[in-house]
Order: sequence, then C-alpha cells, then structure tokens
Amino acid sequence: MDLIIRKGHIVDPSQGIDSVGDIVIEDGKIKKIITNNQGSKLKTRNYKSIDAAGLYILPGLVDMHVHLREPGFEYKETIKTGTLAAVRGGFTSLCCMPNTKPVNDNETVTEFILRKAHAEGACHVFPIGAITKEQRGEELAEMGMMYEAGCVAFSDDGRPVMNSLLMRRALEYSKRFSVSIISHAEDLNLSAGGVMNEGMVSLSLGLRGIPAEAEVIMIKRDIELVRLTGGRLHIAHVSTAEGVRAIRMAKKEGLPVTAETCPHYFTLTDEAVRGYRTTAKVNPPLRTLHDIETIKEGLSDGTIDVIATDHAPHHRDEKICEFDRAAFGISGLETALSLGLALVRDGVLSLSGLVEKMALNPARILNLKKGTLKVGEDADIIVVDLNRKWKVEPERFVSKGKNTPFEGFVLEGLPVYTICKGSIYCLDKQLADRRSIEMAGRLILL
Ligand code: DOR
Repeated sequence: MDLIIRKGHIVDPSQGIDSVGDIVIEDGKIKKIITNNQGSKLKTRNYKSIDAAGLYILPGLVDMHVHLREPGFEYKETIKTGTLAAVRGGFTSLCCMPNTKPVNDNETVTEFILRKAHAEGACHVFPIGAITKEQRGEELAEMGMMYEAGCVAFSDDGRPVMNSLLMRRALEYSKRFSVSIISHAEDLNLSAGGVMNEGMVSLSLGLRGIPAEAEVIMIKRDIELVRLTGGRLHIAHVSTAEGVRAIRMAKKEGLPVTAETCPHYFTLTDEAVRGYRTTAKVNPPLRTLHDIETIKEGLSDGTIDVIATDHAPHHRDEKICEFDRAAFGISGLETALSLGLALVRDGVLSLSGLVEKMALNPARILNLKKGTLKVGEDADIIVVDLNRKWKVEPERFVSKGKNTPFEGFVLEGLPVYTICKGSIYCLDKQLADRRSIEMAGRLILL
C-alpha cells in the first residue's frame, strides 16, 4: 500500500510531533513524515492520497485490555468481529484476555488465537496468557511456553489471584521474560455476592454492594509483592480513589508498577445503575464522583499510565434479565476514543497526553513496537475528526456486544479512517468519496 495522508495535524508523542504535515506510507510501513515547517519537496505523482485537512493524524490506538471471547464464546464476540470493532474505534492493536473456553493457559490456545487473528483479524492481536491453569488460582500456568508462543503479558483477568504465594511466584517468574503481571485486583471474600458499588445507591436499590476496599486491599497486597520480588506489575481497570493513591505512592518509591483505568470509570458514577440498568453492571463497579475526580487527577499526574477499554461484550440475553443475574461488562471499543477526547476538552489531558495513554504507554508497558508514527514502523494510523458529533446507537456497533451504558449519549470526535494491516477502513461512503482521491490498498467501509 503506497499512500500519502496530506495536510493533517499530526500528533505523535513518541517523537514530540504536534504539527500540520503529510505522512507517506510505502509497503504498509511509514516511509516519511513531512511537517509544514520542514517544507514539502515531495514528488507526489505516483501516490494515492487522503486529504486530511482539518483532521488529526494519530498513531493507531493500542488497547491492552480486551475480551475477544474466541475460542468458546463466539456467540458474544469473535476475533473477526472484535477486531473490526477495534478499527471502528480507532484501535490498530489489541491485547486479548485469557478468559476464553478453553482458557488461554497454554501455547496451543495462544497459537490458535494468533493464527486466527493473522487470518481474520482487522488489527494486530497480542494475546495475554493466564497466570494460573484454567484461571483457577491453584497452580501456575505454562508461562514460559506461552511467552515463547507470543503472549505479551500474564493475567487471570476476570478473576483475581487470591493466593498470595502464587502471585509472588508469578511476579518472580515473569522477571525472566521482562513482562508484566496484570492484576485484576479484587478480594473475592469482600466482593462476594456484590453486583454494584457499595454505597448510598446500592442501599437505596437494595442490591448487594462491592466495597472499594475489595479493590484497594488487593492493589496494596500486589504492591507489597512487587517490593518483595522486583517483578513488573500492571493494575487493571482501577476504579477507586484509594487505589489511585496507593499506586501513586508505589510509583514515588520507584517500584515497577503501572496502571490503567477505563472510560466508564472516569465518566459514570454508580447513579448510572439506577433503574436496575444492567448495561451499567461492570466489574469493578462504577463508583462515586470522588473516585472519578481522583482518577482524573491520576491520569493527569501520570499515576495512571493507560486508558484501556476492558471491552467485555455479552449476548443481549445475558443483560436483559434481573440485575443480580446479569453478566458484568461493557462493550467499550467503539466509544473509548470519544470518551477519552472529553478529557482533552475538559483540560484533564492534552491531545498528546491522551495519545500517550491510549497508544504509546500501553505499547511500552507490553514491549510492543506500536503506538508510534516513527519511520520504518507499521503504518498503523488513524485520522480523527475531533468535532464530529455522533449519537451512541448500540445497534449500529460493529461489535456483537451491544451492551453499553452510553446508549443515547451524544459524543464528540470520531476516527474517520483507520489504516492497519494494509487496509484503509473508512467511516462512511460519503467521506470516502469526498476526501479520497482514488484510494490505494483495500478500502473497507465500516
Ligand atoms: O466487567 C467485567 N467483565 N469485568 C471483568 O473483569 C471481566 C469482564 C468479562 O470477561 O466479561
């Protein structure tokens, strides 16, 4: 694929670029970046081009926390539909969590995922292997074999590793490969039976609550285990103010701890559950305004490194039922960038800062050569219209999972092109006609 994206505002924190310019792509790789202040001397006759005037050109986003559901739960999502939802949302790389059926706890499952993703995936897929066999928390999984097969980190996400000795061993063992252990921080004894945040709202709805301490205690335990072992720890989906504070202290001490939050934790409170809305049922649960404010502080001061989606698609029958019985999870790939851009409009992050959280930092944490527009790297690029308003209509999601608490929200900012694996994904035909002069490669309308 040979292509020029012209006259867009390029933002790439990996190279400190924040300027209008052109990007040249040859054979699916980034060949050249010409910012306006360098003056363009490029001979362009042989290139196809996209006119990006008035639009932003960013590195393709990297989502380090996605549930692709395949193998085993293809009725919820497949590698094909999940990766298409990813490119629709501006992600060109994602990491898939191991809570499939069978669990990704050995190299055969890892290889299956990679083969399928290679053949059918719209974007790059990097599997995360389980810490323990079948995620049962009883015995370490074959981490070495899975690492060799292509796993980029290890996690029992969806479940915590309750046994502290096993978590210690996982942190010790992972040092051999310099990969992170990703902690789903939840004390199961404290959260048992809980379906939403423990507080005034759970009280008034008569629903069993999950206290903030269920998360905080495990974050603190895992930080202690990092001090003991020197292993690299990444805390998944931080939802609590006290969790942010614990991570801030660990970082101040210089411990190798990183953390992520998700758009729903800085956008919604447990009030969203009122009306027993199962679309707002997620684990960890939506918390309070105080938690949101502290998470935003954590994002802007660097305590929280990453915004990931925790994309957790479910079948409608698993959500249209009694609140107690409904599945936990939000289908997040297609709303994340727009919700992240709200942080930029609110002054919590700069646009470059948002790109760090959604592309550069996750790639760094996982040792991936992604999240950058550096010359020679894969042309994983998005072109974003920051002003485009759109209404969230779950039925129009590309993902099989229509479970979103953001239904009806009018959001601002959308990726209009996603360039990945040699294809150009375009939001709509009108735009393709207006903006694209004879597109190179495969043009796929989303
Ligand atoms: O809400 C959630 N859903 N949280 C998790 O940790 C797991 C996920 C899922 O797999 O559905």
